[in-house]
Formats: sequence, C-alpha cells, structure tokens
Amino acid sequence: MRTHFCGLIDESMIGQTVTLCGWADVARDLGGVCFIDLRDHEGIVQVVAEPDADNPNNAAVIATASQLGYEYCLQITGVVRKRHSVNDKIRTGQVEILAKEINVLNKAEPLPFHAHENPGEETRLKYRYLDMRRPEMQAMMRTRTKLVRELRKYLDDRGFQDIETPILTKATPEGARDFLVPARMHAGEFYALPQSPQLFKQILMMAGFDRYYQVARCFRDEALRADRQLEFTQLDMEFAWVTEKDVQDLTEDMIRHVFREVKGVELVNPFPRMTYAEAMRLYGSDKPDLRFDMAFTDIADLVETSEFKVFADIANSEDGRVIALRAPGAATMSRKQIDEVAAHAAKYGAKGLAWMKVEAEGVNSPIAKFLDEATLAALLERTGAVAGDLILFGASSEKVASDFMGAVRLKLGKDLGLMRDGDWKPLWVTDFPMFEYDDEAGRYVALHHPFTAPAVNDIEDLKANARNAVSRGYDMVLNGNEIGGGSIRIHNSQMQSAVFDLLGINEEEQRAKFGFLLDALKYGAPPHGGVAFGIDRIAALMAGTESIRDVIAFPKTTGAQCLLTDAPSPLPDEQLAEVHISVRPKAAKSE
Ligand code: AMO
Ligand code: AMP
Repeated sequence: MRTHFCGLIDESMIGQTVTLCGWADVARDLGGVCFIDLRDHEGIVQVVAEPDADNPNNAAVIATASQLGYEYCLQITGVVRKRHSVNDKIRTGQVEILAKEINVLNKAEPLPFHAHENPGEETRLKYRYLDMRRPEMQAMMRTRTKLVRELRKYLDDRGFQDIETPILTKATPEGARDFLVPARMHAGEFYALPQSPQLFKQILMMAGFDRYYQVARCFRDEALRADRQLEFTQLDMEFAWVTEKDVQDLTEDMIRHVFREVKGVELVNPFPRMTYAEAMRLYGSDKPDLRFDMAFTDIADLVETSEFKVFADIANSEDGRVIALRAPGAATMSRKQIDEVAAHAAKYGAKGLAWMKVEAEGVNSPIAKFLDEATLAALLERTGAVAGDLILFGASSEKVASDFMGAVRLKLGKDLGLMRDGDWKPLWVTDFPMFEYDDEAGRYVALHHPFTAPAVNDIEDLKANARNAVSRGYDMVLNGNEIGGGSIRIHNSQMQSAVFDLLGINEEEQRAKFGFLLDALKYGAPPHGGVAFGIDRIAALMAGTESIRDVIAFPKTTGAQCLLTDAPSPLPDEQLAEVHISVRPKAAKSE
C-alpha cells in the first residue's frame, strides 16, 4: 500500500513521488490550501494540498483534504519537496509532501481524546488502542522490544537454550496467592498458573540442560502497585554446575550489554556488592537507591541515658533502633515541609519524626532541650552535620525504624533533587536471611523461595541456627528498584526436606506439593542456580517511566481489572457447571 514510512522521509528524497499510509494527526484547511500532518509508527510528515496546475486530479485532492477528521486513515501519493518554514521539532521538518492523490481508507468518529493528549489513566486504558497511538507510548513500547531482542541475542550467542514451561501447572510458591484454573476433566481439581517457572527450570537442570532461559509470563495474585502487575514477564534463567559468582558475572555482563545497546549507557564493571545486613543498616532497604548517599547513622548508644524518654526506652530495648539521617543543606526546609515528610514516615509506621536544624548560632530542635551538650556534640560529630544541615531522627523496632527512615531518605532524595536523570547505579544485594519469622503465623517463611540454598551445608547446623541463617540468594538492584532476584538452589533432597520442615510444611504436604521435586533431587541433581529479571521493570526504567503499566501493552489497573475488555467478568451458570463450579453468594468485602 505504501512505498515509504511517513516519519522517515528526508531531504535525500526531494523530487521523488512517494505513497504513504497513516493517520491524519491534524488536518487544517486554510481556505484552498490544506495541511495534513500524516502520522505512522515512525513519525509525522507534513502533506500539503494546494492549487496545482500539473495535477488533473487537483480539485478532488483539495476537496478531500478539506473534509478530513482527526485520525482518518489515509493513503496519500505525492511529491517530496523542500518545506518553506522548517519545523525543527520533527525529524521530517525539512520536507513536505505535495499531495497528488488522497485516498480515505477509513473514517474516524470524534475521538474520546486526541493522540497528543494524556487524558488520565482510566481513559487511556479503556481506549488503549488510541493511547498506544501516542508517540510517547510508541517509543516506550519500542524500548521494550529492543530490550527483549538484545536479551535474547546475548543469551542465544552464549548457548542458552530457550525452553517453554507450562502455564497450566501446579502451584509454585513465590510468596503470593495463586491464580487457579478449574479442571473440567477432573471435577473439583484445579491447575494453578505459575508464579514463576522456578521448579520447572530446576528440573530442566536435572534433565541435563546446561543453561536455560525463557521470556516467561508469571502470575501472582497480589496487591498491585506501580511496579507490580498480576501477570508480568520475567527473563528467567537457570545454570547447571555454577556458583553465585558464575551467575552474577554473566548476568551483570548481560545487563551492561542491554544498557549499552538500548540506551547507549555504560554501567560500571563490576557492579558493587552489598550484603543485606549492610543495606538495611545504611539505607533501611534491601533495594537501596545509590544515586545519592545520605546513609543512616546509628545513635542508640548516644541517647540511651538521655531525658528524651521515647529515644531512651527504644535505645534500651532489645530490638530497638535509633537512626539519625543527615540531609545536607536542608535546614531551609519549612515546618510544613518537615511535617509532610513526617506524614510520609507515618505511612510506614513512624510514631513521630524528630528533627534538628543545624544553624550557625546552634541547633534548633524540639528535642534539643532533652539532650545535654556532650550528647549534642557527639551527635553532630557522628553524623558529620554542619551549619545548614537538617537531621531527622527515627526510633522504633529495628524493622520499623529501618523501614520508615528508608522511606524518609527516598522522599528527601526526591524532594531535594538528589536523584539525577541519566544516573544509573546498579548493585547486587547478597547474603539475605534464609527465613523471616512470621509472628502472626508463628512460623518461619522463606525470604526468597523455599528452594534457595542456605550458606551452610550442614542440616543440623541450619536447624540449630535457623533464625540467623543466611541464604545463597541475591538480588540485582538498579536505582532503588529490584530488577532481578535469584539464588543457588538446594540440590540435595534431605536438605530440601529440612528446609520444608523449618517452614512448617509437614511430610505429607511435602509429598503432595513437591514430591516430584524431592524425587528428582535424588537421582543425580547437579549443583545449579539462576536468576529471574523483571522485564517490565527494566523496560520502565529504560523508558524513563515510573509505572510498568506504560511498557505493558494491555495492563491491569491497580483495581486488578482490564478496562479495555472489562475482565474479570461473571460467567453464565451453564459454563460454570461444566467446570464443576458454583459461586457462593458474595462474601463481605475482603482484601
Ligand atoms: P522474584 O519473585 O524475585 O524471583 O522475581 C524476579 C523478578 O521479577 C520481577 N517481579 C515483578 N515484576 C512485575 N510485577 C510483579 N508482580 C513482580 N514480581 C516480581 C522483579 C523481580 O526481581 N523464581 C524466582 C527467581 C529465581 O530464583 O531464579 C523469582 O521469581 O523484578
Ligand atoms: P513529643 O515529645 O512526643 O511531642 O515528641 C517530640 C518530637 O519527637 C516530635 O518531633 C516527634 O515527632 C518526635 N518523636 C516522637 N516519637 C518519635 C519516634 N519514635 N521516632 C522519632 N521521632 C519521634
């Protein structure tokens, strides 16, 4: 239908006759002369319909051009010529097309919004086909395509085998709820959609494949956020006969490769490594944003005997943590601004957020009266605070204090403009705890997943020190986002059973849920390990957008709906009966 793309017409084609197809981005009739901005996926070119003695068809061309609406589909044949008034804003701004023939391929009704407007996310998702015509969306989706292409290229060149694993399967625990699919042929039984291909990729290593990857869709029924979807895409990888260094070296080289090819950015080599304990101590986060420093200073020992009861009590409690956070140059923040930061901290469990402005005349702080000279001096010295700085204080249990001060640090980083665009700070976080104790459930839960190997090889040793056990798991973090996570796996059946025991999964349940894995581990399972990267998250970072929804063609809303198709939706009773389901009356609103 066409000879060229609109967005790629340039000065070298002046004098040529071309046929283009595209949408009428804008059509203006200036009385006898009409301008059409014709748009395709490559961009926009200006088309002119004007009196043209050389064209026997001229009257029809002008008549058609004067009656176009937004987003009409057009096929236009014309001659490329130099443009009178150059438009620097578009790639084709040096040229225009003198129309010789205009063919309306399809009309468009008045649109809910125009291709250059951003009408808000609900409308965008309902009319996703219009939303994705917008050049920004086209560019972001293209970034994603490039990313996936480069990932595949890198791995194909290195002998990785791309193997598909089932979507209708048995539950693979990754810490979320499963999506279930009723089995028509087995009344009362269900498939689960995979939260990840975890167990299948491990079995592939036991099956003699050496290096596997898959661009894999994963399904997790969990609360949605800007960086989380119910279904999302992983670059899933597994390697046989490896240590964590082998996996990390190759995958960080791969990430450097894709940033170089897609973004023209050279990431550091090697990526820095930080233990989980250090990340929590310095930044209160297992995915620290290293684009700015502002590390925590622990001050519990300085306030143990202070008159400020809140701090002294927490400092003296077994699990207490008192953190000081110095924000350089932030003493100019107003009370209102500080209150906003405190309100943000409260969302993460803070009961208060004490502050101290360091000024030339001395300190200005509601808690200064509780602190003696020596304590104040020690505080300033340890935090390195100088006149003009603001210090914020958080005190609570270790976990809560780390959490809310981590959130405070990020908010200040943003508010004070410390995170610069174009700055890329990757790192590996290592030495995660093996388990977290869930007080409510009264048992351990796996911090990564239950197939992650502990650092110790001895089962009795692990059982005796479960609370403090460290795993062989690692995460890749980029600018404060967890973009990948993986581990060296347990390859010994007894160790796997012992870990299940510690997680409160009894023998019967182990057989029922993971019998196939425990069996496979008995017949010569090689040491193996791997990692999975969040493709949506990496694409969003590369595209410079905060939400992964912008790099997913048809995402769900935070309310877990597809506004385009209106899924999920109720089904007729007959259809439910076929799969042996009857729906209970709606329960009181649950999560
Ligand atoms: P994990 O659960 O850490 O590990 O997931 C790996 C990576 O996938 C991305 N991710 C998500 N992206 C969008 N929406 C979600 N809901 C979502 N959940 C996770 C993140 C994360 O780092 N089987 C293991 C991997 C392994 O051990 O090899 C796993 O799935 O970027
Ligand atoms: P109060 O004496 O309770 O008014 O507190 C004095 C200051 O300490 C206020 O700025 C509070 O926000 C702050 N504060 C109270 N509890 C905490 C806490 N747990 N961590 C940090 N600051 C706190």
